[in-house]
Amino acid sequence: MAGYAVVGTQWGDEGKGKIVDLLGMDMDMVVRFQGGNNAGHTVVINGNKIVLHLLPSGILNPNADCIIGPGVVVNPFVLFQEMEELSKHDYPVNHIHIADRAHILMPYHVRIDELQEATKDPGMRIGTTKNGIGPCYCDKYSRIGLRMCDLKYADIFAAKLKEILPMKNREIVDLYGGEPFDYDDLLNRFMNIRERLLPMLVDATDIINNALDAGKNVLFEGAQANMLDINYGTYPYVTSSSPTAGGALTGAGVAPQKLNTIIGIAKAYSTRVGEGPFVTELNNEMGEDMRKRGAEYGATTGRPRRVGWLDLPVVRQAVRINGLTDLAVTKIDILSGYDEIPVCTGYQLKDGSVIDYVPACLRDLEEAKPVYRMLAGWKEDISGVKSWEDLPENCRAYVRFIEEYCHTQVSLVSVNPDRSGSILLHKLVK
Ligand code: IMP
Ligand code: MG
Repeated sequence: MAGYAVVGTQWGDEGKGKIVDLLGMDMDMVVRFQGGNNAGHTVVINGNKIVLHLLPSGILNPNADCIIGPGVVVNPFVLFQEMEELSKHDYPVNHIHIADRAHILMPYHVRIDELQEATKDPGMRIGTTKNGIGPCYCDKYSRIGLRMCDLKYADIFAAKLKEILPMKNREIVDLYGGEPFDYDDLLNRFMNIRERLLPMLVDATDIINNALDAGKNVLFEGAQANMLDINYGTYPYVTSSSPTAGGALTGAGVAPQKLNTIIGIAKAYSTRVGEGPFVTELNNEMGEDMRKRGAEYGATTGRPRRVGWLDLPVVRQAVRINGLTDLAVTKIDILSGYDEIPVCTGYQLKDGSVIDYVPACLRDLEEAKPVYRMLAGWKEDISGVKSWEDLPENCRAYVRFIEEYCHTQVSLVSVNPDRSGSILLHKLVK
């Protein structure tokens, strides 16, 4: 039995997809456990670039069962679009299964997300992906959500929608002045896709645990990242789920001891899309240059990502919360060319005190000044380097510094976007 989790340690877009791709071929099952189509990863299929939002990037292994877990919020229309895109490129989709307990992300959730963002004062906007993720999780926890299993009996779905829709329409019209949904029209849209969805539904927790018990390799693929976690991120500038190893347990229905390897992905510098504090942000030409070199533009919304130096209290928080057994450091090639590279090791608060953890109070974080350790840079282009020994000494020292600060081993360093650009320091699939 071997459970693997891959999670982001920063604000997402660390390159999880690439590491999943590397592990994927050894996996028998790939599970997404939280979030919805707010994620975005670009994958290359038969030479064509396509962007996936809901499907995990582990889908690229056609031999691994792909499970959209109970903790995910599923927009079925987006799912079908992604499946059609894959089929268009002759890629199989018959290995995709949806947890019957997963919540359905309804069209009204998307509209509410858009309206909430649009009607907030600019300073209060979260900068969501406007895909309805937050409103769907809200309904889940308010216990007025619709689940995939509600589609099993058409009359149950119809009755629940009849009860819920008026509440949602009141919210849309009275609170935000938006356009309401028509019950018959909405019901029809779901009755039209019901037959197609039903055969895809499974008791996910049962089949995931059966796979683990049978000694199969199961990969739990996180979307977003630790600093976007609903509990530990920079609340309220977070997503509405737990993209952590803990989230994998509750979102897939497996026990803690089933996760043997928990791999955190850390980009060698920081990026963030959306609003919220970002202590090491580079709001200058240097940042612009880093954004261009790192091609830091959102895969879901196309927004330029905010960029900054590596923030180690952030990464260490992820190490602790997730119990990371391994770190993978990605995009370190983008840091070539600097004389010195600042790495944030703490925050100086307004009262002058210095802390080395991420504070809860956003004002503290917004006012904090980064405490930097200056590490020596390297000039060489390292994007073609194939082994640890061939990396410049200062680059290796940069990696060692991350290990030391975070108290965990770096098992992989990635120097270019290809599969061949991953330098393995320790075996990941054990
Ligand atoms: P939501 O998840 O759409 O509600 O957006 C909440 C915050 O999470 C926003 O700042 C988004 O930009 C951010 N976010 C959501 N998904 C991702 C992701 O996959 N990568 C990076 N940021 C994300
Ligand atoms: Mg992404």
